[in-house]
Amino acid sequence: MSPVFNKVDGRVIHFVGVQVPILLKRRRSGCGFEKNGVSLCEDGSGFRENVFGSCRREVCSDSVVELARVLATDSVLGSDDRELEVDEPCEASDLEKRKAATAIDNILSVLTHYSEVTGRLVCGKRCCLPGMGLLGSSLNISLGRIKQSFVLTDPHLPDMPIVYASDAFLTLTGYDRHEVVGRNCRFLSGMDTDSSTIFQIRESIQNEQPCTVRILNYRKDKSSFWNFLHISPVRNASGKIAYFVGVQIDESCKHQDKQGLGPELRQRSVVGAVRVAVRSLSMGVGTSNSRLKAELTRIAASNSPFNPIVQSPEIFNVWPTKAPQPSPRFDAGWVTFPPNEAERTTTTFGQNIPGGEWVLLQNSIGVSAMHMQLLYNNKVVIFDRTDFGTSNLTLPHGECRYNDHAVKVDCSAHSLVYDVATNTYRPLMVQTNVWCSSGAVHPDGTLIQTGGYLSGDRKIRLFKPCNDVQECDWIELPQNLTVRRWYATNQILPDGRVIIVGGRRQFSYEFFPKNPNNASSKELYQLPFLRETTDKYEENNLYPFLYILPDGNLYIFANQRSISFDYVNNRIVQEFPPIPGEKRNYPATGSSVLLPLRLTDGNGSPEVEVLICGGAAGGSYYQAEKTRVFVEASKTCGRLKLTDPVPQWVMEEMPMGRVMPDMIMLPTGDVLIINGASRGTAGWDDADGPVLYPVLYMPNEPNSSQRFTVLNPTIIPRMYHSAAILLPDGRILVGGSNPHKTYNFTAVPYPTELSLEAFSPHYMDPQYADLRPSIISMEARDMMVSYGEQFALTFGVNAYRPDLGITVALIAPSFSTHSFGMNQRLIVLDILHVEQLSRFAYKVNVYAPPTPNIAPPGYYMVFVVHDGIPGHCVWIKII
Ligand SMILES: Cc1cc2nc3c(=O)[nH]c(=O)nc-3n(C[C@H](O)[C@H](O)[C@H](O)COP(=O)(O)O)c2cc1C
Repeated sequence: MSPVFNKVDGRVIHFVGVQVPILLKRRRSGCGFEKNGVSLCEDGSGFRENVFGSCRREVCSDSVVELARVLATDSVLGSDDRELEVDEPCEASDLEKRKAATAIDNILSVLTHYSEVTGRLVCGKRCCLPGMGLLGSSLNISLGRIKQSFVLTDPHLPDMPIVYASDAFLTLTGYDRHEVVGRNCRFLSGMDTDSSTIFQIRESIQNEQPCTVRILNYRKDKSSFWNFLHISPVRNASGKIAYFVGVQIDESCKHQDKQGLGPELRQRSVVGAVRVAVRSLSMGVGTSNSRLKAELTRIAASNSPFNPIVQSPEIFNVWPTKAPQPSPRFDAGWVTFPPNEAERTTTTFGQNIPGGEWVLLQNSIGVSAMHMQLLYNNKVVIFDRTDFGTSNLTLPHGECRYNDHAVKVDCSAHSLVYDVATNTYRPLMVQTNVWCSSGAVHPDGTLIQTGGYLSGDRKIRLFKPCNDVQECDWIELPQNLTVRRWYATNQILPDGRVIIVGGRRQFSYEFFPKNPNNASSKELYQLPFLRETTDKYEENNLYPFLYILPDGNLYIFANQRSISFDYVNNRIVQEFPPIPGEKRNYPATGSSVLLPLRLTDGNGSPEVEVLICGGAAGGSYYQAEKTRVFVEASKTCGRLKLTDPVPQWVMEEMPMGRVMPDMIMLPTGDVLIINGASRGTAGWDDADGPVLYPVLYMPNEPNSSQRFTVLNPTIIPRMYHSAAILLPDGRILVGGSNPHKTYNFTAVPYPTELSLEAFSPHYMDPQYADLRPSIISMEARDMMVSYGEQFALTFGVNAYRPDLGITVALIAPSFSTHSFGMNQRLIVLDILHVEQLSRFAYKVNVYAPPTPNIAPPGYYMVFVVHDGIPGHCVWIKII
């Protein structure tokens, strides 16, 4: 028998066994069988030799004894207690061993060969990467990208030895790797190390708590240094402590961080990055809670005549199912906001909100994710522009486009569909230029995307969701928009049509589809408000923010002004006061969301409040373009309660300034502010200082000084032309940034970004596993409800806390581009009652939104949020 190793991590994944008959030379055995079958010989060894020959050490001895026992029992039954004749000699001959070895070699070579074809590489010898130490190679690679001094220790091994030491740790301490791996870190302390500090560390480790100390340590050359040490447990995807990480900062170099990050934040960043690496390699193994899973499966099978949700792994696994690919940029270092800001943000931690985690899903999808739309089949349509030359993704079946003004023949894709569950994608063919276009989803789930540039500026395109077998693709309609729409905004209307507002030098709006009774079918409605809000040279009012209001009017925000607009009668109903401070629309790009519409307690006319954050001062674009001076971005957010008798902006300050933020409504009703830059404006290379830190904004936090929390940073700048959307499992998909002509990756400060990342907000932290609800079934025929209709969701939760509250949130998936999520909308449903079905299962009965003004028809994600923790959504169609 011979082990077969996984080529990547050196683990044994199979055994190959070959059987070679040993020539019979009969002799009387000196071994006696026992009837109770414990062993063949007195020590059992003779039998083991006979069966397993010279490779027996590869096999666990318990199984040898067990096998011996079984075989012995069988033999004994037929042996009638007589002495047995056994083969002589007990061991195989050299020839027989050679035969076996050759057979094994042949099998291994075939296995190795075919493993190269399948990609699951195996080999016959343990083949570890040099210096891999005690961790798998994938984890080693991920950890290797973290450039600070840190070690990982394994609490499951005796005396908690170091299993990974970073290069910076070796440089700091002067040891070689082989001198530290396998040892407890206490070798760093010495004569004058304070024993109370050591005691403090020991206590924290025992209590599985993080700790930060200042400890005197010694290098290999006996010189001492003050170690600003942070130690923290690292949990795997199922919430168990897998390792401890210790981050060492030499106090004498404490302030030497070229990006200006404070030492605490540097340590936090390392811990965050280590957690991501560990978590992403332990994910995809199913729920940690098999009891809950079994219960859910049982209930799903027995429940109701309605719709049991297919028990996809996604329901149980909030973590993506595939390991991330390595990123070449991981060592790019932290680029961040100015030092004083970094220091400030450290004070916002400690509100019991973990900082969230980043996972690199795809190192390159071949196109830059300038526009993104999630569809109800959990696939995301992503597209770039078509006139920047060939992308890094080839069209299938030899398809090409001809005579685009970028290249004569372009056989590359500028669009793709990304499958969230499998982290895979498929190229799509988009015919005309979709650059800076807009979109909305039709009530039947089809993406209606309009406009773009030159060849595409009047186009209307459809993308109908399909399963993979159908290979659906973009369809361009023969009819066009009435006018060019480049940088316009689309909003789905209560009657299912789409309104398309504005665009560069377009001070008008139109609808899709057009009124069939209008013979000219060229309907176009003027909107002078857009002309009035256009700044000379800079514009600052493109991609206006639109929201359908519960009274049926359309809220339009452009530059600094906003109106409630009756689009049917082309009439301004109300003008609101201008937002103080900076400009908020392209290129002074800020972002906006409509805060949750709360229908609780039968309230059919909820409060309506708009939130706008970030942007740039007037003149910033001009300065960036003409003088390459990047003005500090806006730090303010404004809230405007439209339903107040006299609405007034209430201004707040973010922890850091930001232009081009994306704002995502989370199922909890909080807002995630993510992506963007600290200086400059939108536009080609017009910004600097990417803000890598997402910020959580909690609109309902009564203490306004605690509404913002700075979360863990990414390492990939996401500035102009980046996008972000909420995924069905509660993560945020982030992609794109700074596309350049010919997909330039060099000689520019912020090159074309083709990667896709996912940010998991705090609520996905494994510590909340017991609180996370899993929707089992939805009692709504064909997953549809009509307005005001009652429906129910059955969900399982391990630790139910009714006192802490259940909410059910409907979220419309947004069309994300240029820092605005068109059609994004969160509605908190009115709950009738919650009933307990079994030990772990509950049913929440809710009312669908009362009118299409509150929730325009179409597909929504439904999240159950238990004690502030959402689970995976299910989709519902409101008709
Ligand atoms: C992940 C990790 C990193 C550590 N790093 C250091 C270190 O850099 N310097 C140090 O003196 N002790 C460090 N320690 C602490 C020691 O390993 C040990 O826990 C401490 O000396 C108290 O335990 P003891 O009383 O068994 O020695 C680290 C511990 C852990 C778990």
